Order: sequence, then structure tokens, then C-alpha cells
Amino acid sequence: MTTAVHFYDHQPTEAYSLSMQEDILRGLRAQPKYSSPKYLYDQRGSALFEEICQLPEYYLTRKEEAILATVVEEIGELAGEDVSLIDIGSGASRKVRLLLEHVNITNYLGIDLSRDFLFESTSILATDYPWLNVHAICADYSKRLPLPPELTEGRIVAFFPGSSIGNFSPAEASAFLAGIYTALPPGSGLLVGVDLIKERAILEAAYDDEAGVTAQFNLNLLSRLETELDAHLDPERFVHKAFFNDRFSRIEMHLVSTMAQVINVAGEAFRFQEGESIHTENSYKYSIEGFQVLAQRSGFSCRKVWTDGGGSFSVHYLEHQS
Ligand code: AVI
Repeated sequence: MTTAVHFYDHQPTEAYSLSMQEDILRGLRAQPKYSSPKYLYDQRGSALFEEICQLPEYYLTRKEEAILATVVEEIGELAGEDVSLIDIGSGASRKVRLLLEHVNITNYLGIDLSRDFLFESTSILATDYPWLNVHAICADYSKRLPLPPELTEGRIVAFFPGSSIGNFSPAEASAFLAGIYTALPPGSGLLVGVDLIKERAILEAAYDDEAGVTAQFNLNLLSRLETELDAHLDPERFVHKAFFNDRFSRIEMHLVSTMAQVINVAGEAFRFQEGESIHTENSYKYSIEGFQVLAQRSGFSCRKVWTDGGGSFSVHYLEHQS
């Protein structure tokens, strides 16, 4: 049996391709060259990211899930009854399953940019939890949090796991949190996972795994440019690089050109020196206090924070107090 998902499409394919083309070209014309991390997530990129989450080096998912499993009853008490849960960047809608047993959730809304992936995972969720009202919105949540009116009444808890907040710069993260604060009614909660600053070797291994899955994830951007932006390039002339930049407290991911070359994207030529890169992602790491200051500046009160035993990862329950 398939249970219906209320599906809203806020991301018409044509308009999205146009804005992707503009963004990518702007990034390739810049010095140094960059691309927004959101373009790492087409269908294949999203599937590769799910694989990354299972890797031995990628501790983030395991640590966060262990924290959630331990404190889920406390989260249930903070969240209250009859909750509408908004899963921001829902991906495979996996972590919410940890909450469904102990938090009184009536409505679920998954928001993600990867349309097919979103549809598939929310359909499975609706089948597995037939009593849950499942909604899905295909949208770029980094721009604005789209909320269907039927979900803005009652208690709302937004859920932003996985340290995706780290993929924004601190200024962007602050603006993003302020946008959530404004979109949610007073009394709402925000449960957010935040990766913590730690030893360089552990951080760098998490973003450059032995099996090379993160490399494939990063290089997939080039395949996407070939198929979606009519790019002429050889992905084999680029390599994945990830390192911790302690000045900014962030992991940087780059695609480094192994030779001097010219690539063509959407009819425009781009010259690379040997060793020159496209900066494809930042993943900021915080201290608990550093993140709390950011959250408070955006309007939220910090109700509770939990970490794993080793202090690798943190989960914060923020509240919109009127
Ligand atoms: C989705 N995001 C939180 C991941 C991260 O850790 O920054 C994306 C990722 N990039 C490489 N590995 C995982």
C-alpha cells in the first residue's frame, strides 16, 4: 500500500536550471573559483552523501544519532503534544525515525532540494507510519522557509540535523536562523545538530575517507555540469582535496585541477592553472558557546544542549520565546 504524501513543488525545474547556470558561471568567473555546496546534491550526490554517512571516518551521523537516541524522551518533553515537525533538508528522512517513537508528532514536513529523492523518502515514511500526515516541499530552504498554512498552527518543532548549519558561513547561518525564527510562531522549537571543533586529523579523515566516497561526492559536481550545463571537461583532470582551515574553523573541500587546462561550461571557457581549484564546500566547526552566541543573536533562547561522551558533536534545543 502507498500512503499519499502532500507534495508541493516550489522549485520548477526550468527556473532552477537557469539559476543554477547563473550561480555556477558567477562562481567560475570569480577569483578564487567557487561553487555553492547545494549543487553537490543531485540524485547521485544525495545517494553518495547517504553513503558518506555510513563511513567509519564520518563520525558526525553516528554521534548525532547516538545523542538523539539517548535524549529523545527529554526532547519529547520539551516539544510537547501534537507537534508539527519540519525536517529541513530532510534527505533520506532517516533521523526523524528516531524521534517518531518518543515525540508526539502529528504532522511531518520534509523540505529538500532533490525532488526525486524527497518524493521517494517521504513516500516510504508515509507507508511506514500510516498515522502520520506526511507533507513534502521541494524547495531551496536556504532562501526562505516555505510553510504550508495548515502547518503553522499548533506546536512546531523544526529539525535541522547533521550539522548542515556548518555549510553556511557564520554570517549566513545567523541570517538563516533569524529567518527560521521569523517564520515560526512563538513557542516553537528548533532542534539543531552542530559539529564541534576537534583534532585536525579526525576532521580531515572525515572529509577524505579511505574508500574515496567523499571524493566521488565532490567530483560528481563535474559530471552534473557535463549533463546539466553542457560542460566540456574531463573529470579525471581534477582531484578531490579537503583540509581544515583553522583560521576560519572550517573544513574546505576543493576540486583541484591537476594540469593547466581550459574547460567549457554553458558555452563559456574557463582557464585553470595547474593546482588551481574550485572551492566547493565549507563545513564550519563550532564550540558550544560559539554556536549558542550565534543562536541567541538570531533571536532564539538556548533551552538545552547535549553532547556525546567525547564531546565530538552537539545537539541543541533552541526555543522561540515571545
Ligand atoms: C551535509 N553536510 C552537513 C555535510 C558536511 O559534513 O558538511 C556534507 C559533506 N561534505 C562532505 N562530506 C559530507
